[in-house]
Amino acid sequence: MAKIIRRTPVNLILIGFMATGKSTVAQALAPGLGFEAVDTDALIVGRAGKPISEIFEEIGEEGFRGVESEVLEELLPRERLVISTGGGIITRPGNIEVLRSLGMVIWLNAGIDVIMDRVAGNDERPLLQTDDPRKSMEELMAGRLELYRQAADDCVEVDNLSSEELAYGIAESARVWFAGRH
Ligand code: S3P
Repeated sequence: MAKIIRRTPVNLILIGFMATGKSTVAQALAPGLGFEAVDTDALIVGRAGKPISEIFEEIGEEGFRGVESEVLEELLPRERLVISTGGGIITRPGNIEVLRSLGMVIWLNAGIDVIMDRVAGNDERPLLQTDDPRKSMEELMAGRLELYRQAADDCVEVDNLSSEELAYGIAESARVWFAGRH
């Protein structure tokens, strides 16, 4: 598919580690901006007709990443979206350029303890189904921090903030950011 390089970014994209609240914040943000919320994981699940854990079992992480990149690129012609993404989307070479081409990229960052609390007892994240989920999380985080930094226009620390508070703050910076580019 040909790459679309925009002069005026027109979407808001939320990136960040698992359980940082990307899809909840996207839902809270979209109506106030008059945008539509879309979630790359939900698009993948819809396309495959099965949950992410089953997709990982059947085609592995590499297979999942292939579908994730396809779903992301298919959003390129669309506008006025708040796009929440899977935590590993920045690991595929090429996806960072696509994310940045789609619009303003906001990194939701949380501390490991907050993330651990949020994922406790939840078996929907295949990469944390290990003997030592905290260690797996720390390793993934260490490998990804620099990639989130490269992809992001702005970073928000989410610890202690509700999704409504986050949505309010992000909407304000998005308005300023978009206004500076029109
Ligand atoms: C992943 C994060 C998940 C999902 C998949 C892989 C990751 O999304 O895409 O389990 O590699 O960090 P969330 O960030 O919404 O949990």
